[in-house]
Order: sequence, then structure tokens, then C-alpha cells
Amino acid sequence: MGICKIREWKDLENHFNEVKNQTLTTLFLDDKNRAKQFTLTDCGWFVDFSKNLVTQKTLQLLIKYAEHQKLGDEIANMFAGEKINRTENRSVLHVALRNLSGNPITLEGKNIMAGVNSVIGRMESLARKIRSGKWKGYSGKKIKNVINIGIGGSDLGPVMIYEALKFYSERSLNIRFVSNIDATHLTEQLYDLNPEESLFIVASKTFTTQETMTNAESAKRWILNHFNEQEAVRNHFVALSTNLEAVKAFGIDTDNMFEFWDWVGGRYSLTSAIGLSLMIALGPDNFRALRNGFFKADTHFRQKELKANIPVIMGLIGIWYNNFYGSDTLAILPYDQYLHRLPAYLQQTDMESNGKGVDRQGVPVNYQTGPIIWGEPGTNGQHAFYQLIHQGTKIIPCDFIGFVNSLNRLGDHHEKLMANFFAQQEALAFGKNEARLIAEQVNSDQIPFRIFEGNRPSTCFLAEKLSPETLGALIAFYEHKVFVQGVLWNIYSFDQWGVELGKQLAGNILKELPKNAPATLSHDSSTNQQIEYFKSKRNDD
Ligand code: F6P
Repeated sequence: MGICKIREWKDLENHFNEVKNQTLTTLFLDDKNRAKQFTLTDCGWFVDFSKNLVTQKTLQLLIKYAEHQKLGDEIANMFAGEKINRTENRSVLHVALRNLSGNPITLEGKNIMAGVNSVIGRMESLARKIRSGKWKGYSGKKIKNVINIGIGGSDLGPVMIYEALKFYSERSLNIRFVSNIDATHLTEQLYDLNPEESLFIVASKTFTTQETMTNAESAKRWILNHFNEQEAVRNHFVALSTNLEAVKAFGIDTDNMFEFWDWVGGRYSLTSAIGLSLMIALGPDNFRALRNGFFKADTHFRQKELKANIPVIMGLIGIWYNNFYGSDTLAILPYDQYLHRLPAYLQQTDMESNGKGVDRQGVPVNYQTGPIIWGEPGTNGQHAFYQLIHQGTKIIPCDFIGFVNSLNRLGDHHEKLMANFFAQQEALAFGKNEARLIAEQVNSDQIPFRIFEGNRPSTCFLAEKLSPETLGALIAFYEHKVFVQGVLWNIYSFDQWGVELGKQLAGNILKELPKNAPATLSHDSSTNQQIEYFKSKRNDD
């Protein structure tokens, strides 16, 4: 039975029809305690949900639906290591990577915490060696440059966190990231580097991803062209992977391999060995604090009742907009320049997880699933796309993320930044009506263009400061929100079959691209003509 036939879903539809014309202005006028009643605080975060188009009854009905979908059991099953990633027959235990409780987590009769802690210990020891200059390149020079080669979950998390926590990083080290198979990425990232001072981290869960392996092979050639000795690979390459054989075949000493496991999804892997670049950049203590932030949010998610559970409420409100108001997107708007890669990171977390069109029974869904995630740091976005959020025809729920204290105190920059943070949420919610424009003596012919209808929803995430711990908690909130929504949409959130077809077709087309390769013309006429054009215009070098 599709979810739309469930009684609790129908109750939500009926409720939506009753309240769809409600306004935030009246909701706030009717309830003086609204702000407090819709705010949750935990894990260093103050989360104000009150500027959302929901009432207590909406939340009650959403929770009833969540209970019908057995959300509580699903959460428990994930933490218990059940194989909830059914289409890949795997457990989903990224929570074990940051389990700082000291309690075991058992999978198939084995405590997996021993492996987790042992890899973390080896990562710490490598990070210390590099930070102290003990790890030397092949010619005996200290390592100054650390280049992470990976893509998707083996790149976006490390890049995002490195940028976000740069303030806490060791500035004498040059940390770079290469993901795109476009040679420009590797070339530009290596442009000013000395191979003798460079260490490559090849980060790939499978160690078969075309982009990563192509970049890693070119990086290896760059090192070998310089040293002309195969032995040099040992000093200049380490691997993060689940695939021991492929790491060996690449030529990386398995002593320099940091493993993780098939129960860690790529996009949920940043606190695994995949975080090695972060451990090096930030140091073991900060990396532990980051994991501790995740751990606190995991504990919150696991223990809090649904109505007081931050990721659950995030998930429920998202469903309300996505499936009842018909919103297609969610804007992530961090008011902190350090978080400039957060929207890109959350795109993979959310869109690769919940971009699914078939339910758990294999039946095409007749309702909307995962939203489009996008965003930019404030205040840059205000001077670009906020116009559409304020006065366009679409409802775009927004997550505003800000900090009470800046890490870089400079004049009144932070007060100005945060004044915008508060003002934008207020303007979106309450707008500006005709009466106010008249009172401001705006010309009558201009009034229609200057009305702000308001009623544009937002959630406010505020923490005292951006720290490894607050950031870890925030990321875990979003991870768990995605899980909640997957349960409520009855879809599988932990596979990603949708990335396979393109890979397969690219493999076929690659064989056709050399100039002298016979034209197969086996595609549709559009693809054929693009390939023909490409081949006819290629330089012959
Ligand atoms: O894009 C598909 C994907 O499998 C992602 O889920 C993953 O994060 C990325 O490719 C990289 O995979 P790997 O770490 O195996 O190279």
C-alpha cells in the first residue's frame, strides 16, 4: 500500500486543507509563546522552528504518521546494526565511527569498535608524524603538502570540514583536494608544489572509481617522473579504502593503508579513515572533538522522544513542505564564510540518499521524495538569489545557520552579518504589506512591486561558535534528518544505484573517442552527432 493511502497520511492531507491559508503573522499573533514552544536546544545548538508553517497539531499529526511508519523501531534497527541497506545487503553503522561511549557495537557477533579504534589510533600516529616533520619524503624532506585524491563522499566531507575548520588547522601545512577527472584539477593543485614535500592520500572506498584512480595514477607518475624510483611511492602515498587487494595492486604499501568497512556509506564516511586529511590538518584532538559532536547528536537522535528530537522535527517539517505545500527545494544558508562548502556537502548527503523514485517494495512512488538541496553563504546569496525567495512564485524553505561569536573578530563585521541573518528570516516570514508601504508614502504605482507577501518559512540554527564539536553535531543532525525522511517516504536511503548507468555508458563511449577508433554510431542521433563533432574537431597531438 502506498503511503498516501495510510490513514495518518490522509489525516495530514485533511489538516493541510484546513490550514493551508494560515499565515505566520497570525500564528505568531495567536500564540505569544510560539517562539519558545517551537525551539529545541541541545548539542550546542539552539534550533528555532517557529517560523515554519506548522502548528502543534501539524507536528502531532506528522508524529502520528512517523509512529505508523515505526520510525522509533527503524532508528533502533540502524543503531543495532540491522542490514537496513537492503538492496546492498549491508548494515548502516556510521554511528560506530564516532561512538565515544566506550560501549561495544556488535555486528555478526563481533565488537566492531576494536577495528574502529585501532584505525583511529593509526591515523593519529600518522598525523602526529606529519605534523611534527617525522614523516619524511623519499629525499628526506619534511612533508609540507598533503593532497587528498577522492570524489563524492571521499572528497566532499573532507573538503567541507577542512574549509569549515581552517581556523583550527595547522597553517604550515598545505592541504589540497583533487576530485574532478578533468586534468585541470590535478594540474592546478600540483602547479606550485614540490614532489619531494608532497604526500598523496588516495581516498576511495572501492578503490575502483574512475576519477580517483585516474588522478591517483597521474599523481604517481608525477612522483615517479621526479624520483625515477618505484620505492618513492612508499613515502609519498597512503590509501584509505575497504579494498586491500586493489590498494596493493596500485603499489601502495598496505602498512600505509587505513581501512574502513562496507557498513560505512561513502557519503557518511567523513569520521572514518576518509577523514585522514582532516586528522592531519586539524590534529588528533580537534578530530576527536569533531567526532564527539557527531556522537552527541547521535545520542540525542537515539534517545530523545520524537517531539523533542531535532533531526526528527527537521525531517517532519521537510515532509510537510515537500509533500503538502509542494516545495521542491531546501536552501541551506550558512551565515559563516567558513561553511561555504556546506551546501555542496549536504547535496550529496541528501540527494544521493533520498533521490529515489521506487519504494521499498520496488513500486514506483506516486508522491514526491527527496528535495533539491542548494545554497550559498549569506550575505552573498542576498545579493544574488534571495529576490526569488522573497518575491518569487515558489515556496522555498530555508535553513539559516549562524554563530553568536565570530572566530575572526574585526570591527563590527559580525554584528552586521548577524543583523542580516535575523533580518532575512523576519522579512521572509512577515513581509511588508500595502498598509506599511502607504505609511511609508511609497508612490501608489510602485506599491504592487514593493509588497512582500511574507509567509516564507525558515528554520534558524544558532550556536555559540563554530567549533569542531558544534560542526560535528550539525552534520549529524542533517544525516539523521535524511534517514528520517527516507523512512517516512518508505524508500531506501543508503544505496545509490542512480549513479551507475552514466558510469556504464561512459565506459562504452570511452572506447569510441580515440580519433582512429571506428565510429559505432550505435547511440541515438543526438549522442552520435556529439561524439562525431568531438572527434572531428580534436587536435591531432
Ligand atoms: O557517486 C557514487 C559514489 O559511489 C558515491 O556514493 C561515493 O561517495 C563516490 O562514488 C566515491 O566512491 P569511492 O569512495 O568508492 O571512490
